[in-house]
Amino acid sequence: MEIKVSKTNSSKLKSVDFNNLQFGRIFSDHMFVADYENGEWSNLQIVPFSEFSLSPASATLHYGQTIFEGLKAFRDKNQEVVLFRPEYNWERFCQSAHRMCMAEVPKEVFMNGLRKLLEIDQEWVPKREGSSLYIRPYMFADEEFLGVKPSSKYKFVIITSPAASYYSGAVKVKVEKKYVRAAEGGVGMAKNGGNYAASLYPAKLAQDQGFHQLIWTDSKTHEFIEEAGTMNIMAVINDVLLTPSIEKQTVLRGKTRDTILKLARVWGMPVEERPIRVSEIRDAQLNGTLNEVFGAGTAATVAPIATISIDEVSYEIPHLQEGSFSQKVSKYLVDLRLGNVDDEFNWMQKAF
Ligand SMILES: Cc1ncc(COP(=O)(O)O)c(C=O)c1O
Repeated sequence: MEIKVSKTNSSKLKSVDFNNLQFGRIFSDHMFVADYENGEWSNLQIVPFSEFSLSPASATLHYGQTIFEGLKAFRDKNQEVVLFRPEYNWERFCQSAHRMCMAEVPKEVFMNGLRKLLEIDQEWVPKREGSSLYIRPYMFADEEFLGVKPSSKYKFVIITSPAASYYSGAVKVKVEKKYVRAAEGGVGMAKNGGNYAASLYPAKLAQDQGFHQLIWTDSKTHEFIEEAGTMNIMAVINDVLLTPSIEKQTVLRGKTRDTILKLARVWGMPVEERPIRVSEIRDAQLNGTLNEVFGAGTAATVAPIATISIDEVSYEIPHLQEGSFSQKVSKYLVDLRLGNVDDEFNWMQKAF
């Protein structure tokens, strides 16, 4: 499928202060768009970043059929633009689309659109070590119809935004036992807009109490940890890496989670993907067997948790310890992106 390219004649590149980037506020010159109608994708285009026109009756505005992905392009040590496991994001996008009853975006539309966009906007990939170009592929329903049914029209779009190196700092989290993010049989495994909208209120209550993030628990008993707002959760207890399983489809299938589990297994570390009780973390902290708890996600890669509040009691847990597993894995992933270590899984790819 051919991609038509219309370039901007007024690039914003020179006006951007790459030493002072605020996440998600500045957008690169171009975007990729494609339309789905009558069962097929057409109109594949790279156009200047610009506004859409939407019908006030557009289905997405009413019933929220909208999904997204998030990944990054980096520069390696030779300043070449590289991507990390982009097919993983396409696969998860298809799973989200399937669950939300939306059209599937073919791999070549997703990948070719992404690669062409990065080639055209390559100067937007920041050169500072640790910084990246954040990539946001998304799709929304675009049929003009006020009935609850799957839309017959969709728009698939990719926009990008330069991002500074992300350091999470000492993260303070609260284990949430009242509100839930996802229930079995629901849409927790999908990256649909509604999941994030529903999380805003409980997250705001937690922020008002001084926490950075929530750790969600299961909807039936609130006894088992699930994940954080935009990160999967991992704990090391007695040198065993633990993370909630994704079997029940209430937790997002994170790319960082999958990557870290694969690395831990090759490095010979015992790994358990299983239900994890909140009390198991608390007991390990109390009896001194808790090595660390950290979040895993595209934004920070690894975000060590410093304080965890369980049933209104705050625990200061070990973090940023020299030689810890999370430090080892984050260093490895930085080296992998730069091209300093052997890419044994073929995870890195040239972007174009
Ligand atoms: C709810 C949720 N969980 C986990 C993650 C981490 O996923 P990934 O490692 O693919 O970024 C994200 C971020 O995309 C998220 O939004």
